[in-house]
Amino acid sequence: MKSIDPKSLSKRENYGLLAGAILPRPIAFVTSINKDGVLNGAPFSFFNVVSSEPPLISISIGRKGTEKKDTARNILEQGEFVVHITDELNVKAVNDTAMNLPPNESEIEKVGLTPVKSDLVKVPGLKEAPVRFECKLEKHLTFEEGETATDFIVGRVVQYHVAENVYNDGKIDVSEMKPIGRLSGKDYMKLGEIFSLERPE
Ligand SMILES: Cc1cc2nc3c(=O)[nH]c(=O)nc-3n(C[C@H](O)[C@H](O)[C@H](O)COP(=O)(O)O)c2cc1C
Repeated sequence: MKSIDPKSLSKRENYGLLAGAILPRPIAFVTSINKDGVLNGAPFSFFNVVSSEPPLISISIGRKGTEKKDTARNILEQGEFVVHITDELNVKAVNDTAMNLPPNESEIEKVGLTPVKSDLVKVPGLKEAPVRFECKLEKHLTFEEGETATDFIVGRVVQYHVAENVYNDGKIDVSEMKPIGRLSGKDYMKLGEIFSLERPE
């Protein structure tokens, strides 16, 4: 067993151990708009459900040095965003949007994803996702380390959208949803073998 002090590691090395061990991670594809209404989209795998009552999700957005990423800035300015589940069909487009564009250019159009109007937030969602969550900003925490920081965003789900084939009597049919998991580096995975266990009393 190797024992390592995180303080002895660089940011990159800590990332390697954390993101290399905590996986597979679901991938949130997040749409947001800036003050001029330009639609932004980017993937985030530091993503999870926080609570079901209230319905809350979280995404962790690392800063580039001292600069907030466009997604974080937009969410903090507008207080709204839409989270999409990445699946086998949209993962290529989702991965392509990780390109760095100036804040006034939309990654969405570049990769051919289709914006659709949301019900309760101004930010459009995207047609090419099996599940999407319209979210309002619930809480923002900042975790600082030296010159840089992470913007931790908690969103309250205000509307669900689930594709007909994926929605099964109030539940999600995972074999239809075909989620993609993020591994480390350039690696992703599809759902593997599924097995069940009875919970002990
Ligand atoms: C699959 C995938 C997962 C990612 N997960 C994260 C993440 O959890 N946190 C983060 O800060 N960046 C993550 N990134 C990098 C961002 O998507 C990337 O920095 C993006 O350009 C940010 O876009 P924005 O500046 O428009 O917000 C991920 C990239 C990919 C391809």
